[in-house]
Amino acid sequence: MYSLRILDTRQFNSVIEMPDVITSVEEAYKLYSSGQAGLFPIILHEFETGKNDTDIKSGHLTGAGIYGLKLLGYNRDNPQRGLPALAGLITLMDIETQQPLGIVDASAVTYMRTGAAGAVGAKTLARKNSKNVVLVGAGVQGRAQLEGLSYALPNLEEIHIVDVMQEAADKMVSEKQPAYPRIKLFGHGFSELQAVMKHADVIVTCTTAREFFIQKDWVRPGTHINAIGVDMPGKQESEPSLVASSKVFADSIAQVVIKGECQWASGDKTLLQENITEIGDVLNGTKEGRTDDDEITLFDSTGMALQDLITAKLALDKAKAQNIDTIVRMAD
Ligand SMILES: NC(=O)c1ccc[n+]([C@@H]2O[C@H](COP(=O)([O-])OP(=O)(O)OC[C@H]3O[C@@H](n4cnc5c(N)ncnc54)[C@H](O)[C@@H]3O)[C@@H](O)[C@H]2O)c1
Repeated sequence: MYSLRILDTRQFNSVIEMPDVITSVEEAYKLYSSGQAGLFPIILHEFETGKNDTDIKSGHLTGAGIYGLKLLGYNRDNPQRGLPALAGLITLMDIETQQPLGIVDASAVTYMRTGAAGAVGAKTLARKNSKNVVLVGAGVQGRAQLEGLSYALPNLEEIHIVDVMQEAADKMVSEKQPAYPRIKLFGHGFSELQAVMKHADVIVTCTTAREFFIQKDWVRPGTHINAIGVDMPGKQESEPSLVASSKVFADSIAQVVIKGECQWASGDKTLLQENITEIGDVLNGTKEGRTDDDEITLFDSTGMALQDLITAKLALDKAKAQNIDTIVRMAD
């Protein structure tokens, strides 16, 4: 017989904390780049073009004994119905016993694992004394990135939040400032982007943009860029010549050249695949990360199912230990 453990958002959030997710995501990157984890082909299907679709991302972490999938659905009209536009589930299996381990709400996991990805990028590649961050995109991911960076950069003093809608940036500042008394948050409209970038040690892009807004000439030497928002073909946030001239790191080289910020510079051959380093190789100590305080580093994080699976496993284990999950007996 087997029993299935199910975690809803509230249960997930009650057992999971960002520092543990950062460690788990690091582990996923290390396993992937050392060949102990892999991705299965992604399935995308549009029920109505641009309006109603699904994607299924899956993979295995043989090194952690698990495999599984993230099933996500999107309907643009859902907010009018009082429903979230994006919703889905993560289903986790045990490789050895081939028994289902559990099901976890996908939105909560995506939030934490993407915030953790940004934290790993900044922790591994930014200058250690980084104090000033420019974060573009005051949406769901803007909040997740803020949380991740607050753990990754011990000397962080200021975060300048920029959005095409200044009111979104200002709202995020008033909502989040009380939770981060150590860091001063500022909200800006887009006209102030160039000015705030003059002082940036770290830039995070997490918008839905399809045209770049981070210009090469605006980025000062020594800056680290976390490219988070570009996770499918056609999206763009940084000028391709900036990407081509930076020291580029990826979660997965195979993914970033197709659907990451690298898709543009790679497409016009100004960035060659052999000049991209996987962050897992840096974490494993087999390749170099930043070697100079003046170089511009860029972490292209497109997101991998492996981050979801390892985070779901962490949450299921913690919930089991604390007896706070829902258990469904599936078969006798
Ligand atoms: N890399 C990953 O693993 C990963 C994971 C989750 C989401 N994402 C991507 O991150 C992006 C943001 O996701 P989200 O959930 O925060 O979306 P969201 O809709 O909650 O927020 C997006 C924010 O960006 C702002 N924005 C849109 N276009 C802009 C532009 N041109 N310039 C400046 N600001 C702009 C919007 O006003 C909004 O505040 C999406 O593209 C999403 O697909 C990536």
